[in-house]
Formats: sequence, structure tokens, C-alpha cells
Amino acid sequence: MNLTELNRIATAMVVSGKGILAADESSGTIKKRFDAIGVDSTEGNRRDYREMLFRSTEAMSQYISGVILYDETIWQDAKDGTPLVKLIEQSGAIPGIKVDEGTQALPMCPGELVTVGLDRLAERLKKYYERGARFAKWRAVIDIGSGIPSMTAISVNAHALARYAALCQAAQIVPIVEPEVLMDGDHDIDRCYEVTTRVLNETFQELRVQRVALEGMVLKPNMAISGKKCAKQAPIEEVAEKTIRLLRACVPAAVPGIAFLSGGQSDEEATAHLNAMHKLGPLPWGLTFSYGRALQAAPQKAWSGKAENVAAGQRAFSHRARMNGLASKGEWQSSLEKKAA
Ligand code: 13P
Repeated sequence: MNLTELNRIATAMVVSGKGILAADESSGTIKKRFDAIGVDSTEGNRRDYREMLFRSTEAMSQYISGVILYDETIWQDAKDGTPLVKLIEQSGAIPGIKVDEGTQALPMCPGELVTVGLDRLAERLKKYYERGARFAKWRAVIDIGSGIPSMTAISVNAHALARYAALCQAAQIVPIVEPEVLMDGDHDIDRCYEVTTRVLNETFQELRVQRVALEGMVLKPNMAISGKKCAKQAPIEEVAEKTIRLLRACVPAAVPGIAFLSGGQSDEEATAHLNAMHKLGPLPWGLTFSYGRALQAAPQKAWSGKAENVAAGQRAFSHRARMNGLASKGEWQSSLEKKAA
């Protein structure tokens, strides 16, 4: 393992002014997104859509540091035969790959999940590295509800995240460690804070036990935020303040960077929250976005599967990427949203 090189890549992934595009929706998830805009989820349409994003020159060269791909995409070529990975590299962004294989029911723990995909991971990482991937992603899912999460779910998911991270570093790939506490329930922000604290503490404990080099990883957490069905929604400043307090308490300064998931927040909320956090600096790590839905909802709608809408889709993507790029420096203002085309 070359830790200097892993650290260089991790640092580039969270550089101020840029963030990560999570375009790694599984076939099931992208079908749901395409259903919403009336597009058939064929291999060709998935390719055309992602090619549109990766050819958005302004967004990709100025505001996107890396792209998380799904297995199908990393092997696909653009319409003109250029591998999609090459398009990403040519824009100056770093290609990455989702390597978990989704979730399964966790035995003895009703309603809870464990992320799978460790079998043969070392061989898969080798192939992905040869294809150009320099970082990877693994997402653990922790739900909040009555009596959950159990310590069992937190512990087995943290163990798997650390196993994955160690395998990545041994393969010279930067692991994005993503323990996502879902915002789907009716819990309040303080319950999210408490559960996220337990999850992050257990995750870093496992990372240490399994000898993962903190300098060569990126953390992808949820924010401390109210559940979507909670009657009392915490305002932007409270989300920012509690998230930063929580991260300062749980995330060692050796970690080069933190890149948030959006998790179901609206586009503008996700931007406003990141921006507000940068008003609370200086911070010990890079702090940016690794958004899926909050970067892609607008371009998906603008594109709607029509070749004549590609330019509009790219404009919508570039706008959201620019807004989040500004937020990653604390320089975003809501008035900038209204000026958008
Ligand atoms: P969202 O921003 O849509 O939550 O997706 C980010 C991601 O990569 C989840 O694993």
C-alpha cells in the first residue's frame, strides 16, 4: 500500500470548491428514477443519460472532483466508442466505483439490514483498478424506528465497512466509508444525532481494529437532521451546528475529508446545509458533497429521455454542481438559485 498516494487521492476528492457526483444507482434504483420521468430503463438509455452528465464540461471540470459509478457503467462506452471512464478522466475528475452488492435482511434482527459483497472483493477491486477506478464506495444502512437500530446491526455493518476499507487500501483504492443513518422515520434531530454518534464511534473503532489508514479514506455520512415524517423540522442553522458538533466529536482529524450523502433532502436544502456548515469553520477535514439525488433530480427532469433536451439537462446539472461547489466554500446564497435559467 502506498499511503502517500491514497492520501493524495482522498485529498483531491474533497478539495474546496468541488465534490463528488454519486451516479452509482443500481439497476433497480435507476429504474425508479427513470419511471418518474417516463423513460424506459434500458442499457442504452442508462448509458445516454450518464454520458450526458459526464460530458457536462462546465460541471465536470470545475465542480466535480470524482464520480461514483455502478458496475454496468464502468464497462460501458460512450456513443462514439470512448469508454465512459475516459470521459471522466479527460474532464479532470477521478473515477470511482460502488462495490457493495446491496443489503440483505439481518438474521435475528427484524427490520434491519446488513450490506453484503465482501466475497471475491479483492479480485473485483483489482479489475476495477485496471479499468481506472481510484476510489470505491460501500454503503451501510441503519434505520431508526421503535427499538432499532440494535447494537447488532450497528456492529455487523461497521465490521463489514472496515473489512471493505482494508481490502480497498490493500488494492491501492481509496475507500469511501458510508454508514448511512436513514432520514425516513418520524424521529427528531436529537435522536438522529444520538444514533449517528453511536454508528460513527463503532465504525471508527472497527476501522482501527482492522488497521485501516485513516489518512487514506473519505467518510460519507448523513447529516444530523430531523426524520422526514417528524412534525418538527430542525432549521438549517440547527442542522449545521449539530452536524458539525457531532462530526468534531466522532471523526479524527487524520481523515482527509467528509463528503455528505443527500439522503432525500431537497436539492436546495442539501446545498444550504453544506453552506451553513462552512460558516462554522475552521474545520479539521475537507467538507463537501457526494450527492446522488440532490445533484441529479433537476437534470433528470430537464432531460426526460429526449436527445433534444441534452443541453438543458447539462445546464441543470451544471447549475446544481456550481451551487454545491460554492456551498463547499461557504459562498452560496439562495439568491443565486433564482438567477438560474
Ligand atoms: P443520495 O445523495 O441520493 O442520498 O445518494 C448518495 C449515495 O451515494 C447514497 O449511497
